[in-house]
Amino acid sequence: MRAPHQYLGALKAPHRMDLQEVNAFYRRTLDEAEDQEKLDDRLKPVPAEVFGSVVRSSAEQLEAYRRTGLEAVSRGEVGVLLLAGGQGTRLGVSYPKGMYNVGLPSSKTLYQLQSEGVRRLQQLAGEVTGRAGGTVTWYVMTSESTKEPTVRFFEQHDYFGLSADDLVFFEQGTLPCFGFDGKIILESPSRVARAPDGNGGLYRALERENMLRDMERRGVKYLHVYCVDNILVKMADPVFMGYCISRGADCGAKVVEKAFPTEAVGVVCQVDDHYQVVEYSEITLKTAQKRSADGRLAFSAGSICNHFFTLEFLKYVVSEHESELLHHVAKKKIPHVDSDGQTQKPDKPNGIKLEKFVFDVFQFSKNFAVWEVLREDEFSPLKNADGAEKDTPTTARLALCSLHQRYVLAAGGQFVDDDGRPIPLIPR
Ligand code: UTP
Repeated sequence: MRAPHQYLGALKAPHRMDLQEVNAFYRRTLDEAEDQEKLDDRLKPVPAEVFGSVVRSSAEQLEAYRRTGLEAVSRGEVGVLLLAGGQGTRLGVSYPKGMYNVGLPSSKTLYQLQSEGVRRLQQLAGEVTGRAGGTVTWYVMTSESTKEPTVRFFEQHDYFGLSADDLVFFEQGTLPCFGFDGKIILESPSRVARAPDGNGGLYRALERENMLRDMERRGVKYLHVYCVDNILVKMADPVFMGYCISRGADCGAKVVEKAFPTEAVGVVCQVDDHYQVVEYSEITLKTAQKRSADGRLAFSAGSICNHFFTLEFLKYVVSEHESELLHHVAKKKIPHVDSDGQTQKPDKPNGIKLEKFVFDVFQFSKNFAVWEVLREDEFSPLKNADGAEKDTPTTARLALCSLHQRYVLAAGGQFVDDDGRPIPLIPR
């Protein structure tokens, strides 16, 4: 049997481990978790002047933002960046989540829906600006477990009509998993249990995989970063991009109104004057329940992992601040080897994964922008298998069908049965 350290040396670049560094990550993360106190006294809501909203903007304003966004697309300055390195353990399928078909009548997968969104955006930009040919480069961050099947899936489907040159796949790194005793877990006698280093592993991966240079070479200036599992995602939504561009923002977040005080969603707010996403567990109920004069929750900006970054901001964060981003503790069920050398799958969490979060760079923004959209139009994540309470294939399917029904109704269409009687609409 090879000693574990020999195995570590043989790993491919994104997975090579510097044990000293990894142990330091573990210690720093645990120390931080222990010291964590409630943030209430340091918290401020997003100031009104940086908090735009689709419902509080006039039709002319929205059109102006949209035009700005589409102009940038037509100049080839807009890229989309998909975070697709997660293991999708809650959904429980053996392939990447983007390949999942939630049971739409068209049977389209999440990857196909997103590809079609990119194609439509390029087309719209050409139509509206009269400048055809502006391409949207699509960066896809994968991980050890999702890279190969994702690339193969796109190849097999001819990139869903996109040009293969405009799709760039890259791979995030992994970190070993730790037992609660701080020891690295072995998955088999010759293999360390490893997991991707969180969606905030993006910044390390951008540097290591030379993605920032690729963006520069292509003339990409603005990035829309998003998660694979939101079936309603608007690819580089030109209104959001245009809003952020016209404000000269270096970093921005699209949010939805938090539904109720105890909803388990991170909220965008200021902590000691720096922007941050604060989890429900980090504040007291009293703060979560606080309301502003208009009756809305004071901390209402629910993060939906839809972010805007300028290339300049990404370069700044990657070169100056990546190492300051802290890992977070995720308690997980981690397959491990037993004393007979057999791999066991535990039925309750037995260890931790260390993960960075993509939004932890908000604190470095010098000109932040927040844009609120309607949840029923833009947010329905696929997290769990059917049978769970929320965020399932069924809820995702219904959310998309309902949105499209509303498009049809808004365009003057009707839904009727064979006898011409109105059929009930899908509830929002
Ligand atoms: P989640 O935190 O929901 O994780 O990821 P997940 O992997 O999809 O699902 P579970 O928790 O294992 O059930 C939110 C987004 O961040 C990406 C995911 O692919 C998803 O788009 N992600 C997550 C990464 O790109 N890398 C990671 O290391 C973790």
